[in-house]
Amino acid sequence: MAAGGTQHVPVLLAEVLAALDPQPGQTIVDGTVGGGGHAEAIADRVGPTGLVVGLDRDPLALERVEQRLAGRPVKLIQANYSDLPELLAQLGISGVHGVLLDLGLSSDQLADPERGFSFASSGPLDLRFNPLEGEPAWRLVERLSAEHLQQLFSRYGEERFSPRIARRIVEVRRRQPIRTSAELAELVCSVVPRSHDTRIHPATRVFQALRIAVNDELRWLEIGLRRIVDCLLPGGRLAIISFHSLEDRRVKEAFRDDARLDVVTRHPVTASPAELGRNPRARSAKLRVALRKPDATTEHANLPPKKALSPPR
Ligand SMILES: C[S@@+](CC[C@H](N)C(=O)[O-])C[C@H]1O[C@@H](n2cnc3c(N)ncnc32)[C@H](O)[C@@H]1O
Repeated sequence: MAAGGTQHVPVLLAEVLAALDPQPGQTIVDGTVGGGGHAEAIADRVGPTGLVVGLDRDPLALERVEQRLAGRPVKLIQANYSDLPELLAQLGISGVHGVLLDLGLSSDQLADPERGFSFASSGPLDLRFNPLEGEPAWRLVERLSAEHLQQLFSRYGEERFSPRIARRIVEVRRRQPIRTSAELAELVCSVVPRSHDTRIHPATRVFQALRIAVNDELRWLEIGLRRIVDCLLPGGRLAIISFHSLEDRRVKEAFRDDARLDVVTRHPVTASPAELGRNPRARSAKLRVALRKPDATTEHANLPPKKALSPPR
């Protein structure tokens, strides 16, 4: 197990540091602090006169990361990154030099059998980032119609075999409830032909779809993409790592369509062969970076009056 009780290895770390270029004294937000790998490296760059505001929806992730980041200039808050304007207002911060979002789930969440993220888990099929918020995935599997399940797997998982999987779920749940991740994964394997790529489990897309649905991930991403730009100082940097095409498309379009931003990465940055050798999780990671234009006006002006802060270098 790596530093501070986390198993999570941060992806594209050098590339994120190059993109955000944190300088001593700056204030940077890590909107998805997870195991704290990115936050730790950024905190070391901003130093004792700077600040990293670390957010996560998952209270257990914050408990874990607190120890790792102790003694560093980090303020941890259990929150959704789309609430960043209100959170900064509460902290009396009128603008930040950079924001990082590293989307999706962490290896710690994946490894916890009680959370249900792993296909082999005999724990409950939960899949919530915050176990106290919203509905667990097994409830969706239990109550949605075949048609609705099919739409969900198609829309959020881009799963070709959605109709078959949805029909099978409805057949099986008439006889016995589907409550664990292992039960659902087995059911999907029984109706989906094996892919040639054995690195990808046949239930990957179904689990992705359910996870996106229970956490409302794409809606928060769309809202966050607009609201976070409000919080950037002129010249402030926004770096976003996504792990599948549904996320990456939204990031790409939001960057392109936001008149307040200059896009830095025409094409997304991906992991080097060396990183892929060390960390297979980096395989699907895509980093996009944008800068807030120096003269951009704030569209959603819900921040308190500006406190003096040095401009980003
Ligand atoms: C890939 S992990 C981040 C890993 C982290 N960068 C590191 O170095 O360890 C993603 C984290 O984002 C959190 N998360 C997902 N959606 C979120 C949201 N809307 N707001 C805040 N945190 C979120 C998850 O709970 C998870 O802990």
